[in-house]
Amino acid sequence: MPTTRTQVAIVGAGPSGLLLGALLARAGIANVILEQRSGDYVLSRIRAGVLEHVTVELLEQVGCAQRLHAEGLPHAGFELAFDELRLRIALQELTGHRVVVYGQTEVTRDLMGHRAAAGLDTVYEATDVRPHDLESARPWLSYRHGGTEHRLDCDFIAGCDGFHGVCRTAIPAGVLKVFEKAYPFGWLGLLADTEPVAEELIYGHTEAGFHLCSMRSRTRSRYYLQCRLDERVEDWSDQRFWDTLRGRLPAEAAARLHTGPSLEKSIAPLRSFVAEPMRHGRLFLAGDAAHIVPPTGAKGLNLAATDVGLLAQALAEHYGGSDAGIAHYSQRALARVWKGERFSWWMTTLMHQFEGEGRFERRVRRAEFEYLCGSRAAQTALAENYVGLPL
Ligand code: APR
Ligand code: PHB
Repeated sequence: MPTTRTQVAIVGAGPSGLLLGALLARAGIANVILEQRSGDYVLSRIRAGVLEHVTVELLEQVGCAQRLHAEGLPHAGFELAFDELRLRIALQELTGHRVVVYGQTEVTRDLMGHRAAAGLDTVYEATDVRPHDLESARPWLSYRHGGTEHRLDCDFIAGCDGFHGVCRTAIPAGVLKVFEKAYPFGWLGLLADTEPVAEELIYGHTEAGFHLCSMRSRTRSRYYLQCRLDERVEDWSDQRFWDTLRGRLPAEAAARLHTGPSLEKSIAPLRSFVAEPMRHGRLFLAGDAAHIVPPTGAKGLNLAATDVGLLAQALAEHYGGSDAGIAHYSQRALARVWKGERFSWWMTTLMHQFEGEGRFERRVRRAEFEYLCGSRAAQTALAENYVGLPL
């Protein structure tokens, strides 16, 4: 069986795996990525698009932020609309930080280009990837590529293979603890080459459900509508989507809505999920492989980026002679992950409509929004979580 060797074997070439590979390469640590899909497939996935400043700094560190700085849109605030109430969260004023609106697909494209230019190994269409001997000092991966079985020997395995990956399942059931919450609704998303309805994002709540007005650029919009879990995207014509969105938007925004043919439309369920621990022997989990958040707080990509920031640091310390970072990786990563989980759950709960809930809960949600409107402290708490807590 053809066998190769590297220091860190990374499973998955999503943002987690690619950013980890770039951080390790910068620290002089050899790494190979095994990805089950093709590069084109990875780039065809439409994902979220709000970057915390910590994420931007990590991309800067690896020299992968030029296009982000040229084309990304810095946002100093966003808007919340709750029934007839409107509130701007002044991120910059409240925290000193902005966020950058730049699509995850573009982050992935930049990291892929960077990796190819640096001549780092990525095996696309590597199937049947399996981790072995995690509890030994010589873990390895088996995989199939081009019709043959291969073996990749390494010092460490990084499971950056997303929610449906294989790495998490390699942790023994007696060790792995899972915490999960499924929400009783999904998001129907639509991407269109139309001018965004507003300069800043609008997160809205109405009796009919949640909506989000986001963007990818000054000429490309991304909108979402809360939908039932049993809905099918085929039943949502563009016209129906635009009409429904217009009906949920505050009147003055509805009047400004530019519509056009969709480039993409899809439904995603909302879920909160955490797997603990994030290290087992010489296997590390990072990003969606270890945790999922509902997209309401825009935390998914950012939590993935800070995981791999911590992991790259721990591995660099190991090769420098100290294993303290490795010993503490899971605990340190999870401390930040749980804060992101809490925030995403809170913002999801505040802004969505929960079918069948009692009149009391509705009024409490409204009272919470009114409190937010009247309290700078509450707005600051929201803002500091949204721009990203310190590492
Ligand atoms: N073998 C090899 N590769 C795999 C396997 C496997 N068995 N299973 C999954 N993969 C690949 C997927 O094809 C995907 O390209 O791992 C990659 C995981 O990428 P993501 O799902 O994007 O996860 P991650 O890199 O952690 O990025 C987190 O993505 O889903 C969003 O909200 C999330 O923004 C967050 C970000
Ligand atoms: C997006 O633009 O896709 C987006 C933005 C903010 C979110 C979620 C998704 O909270």
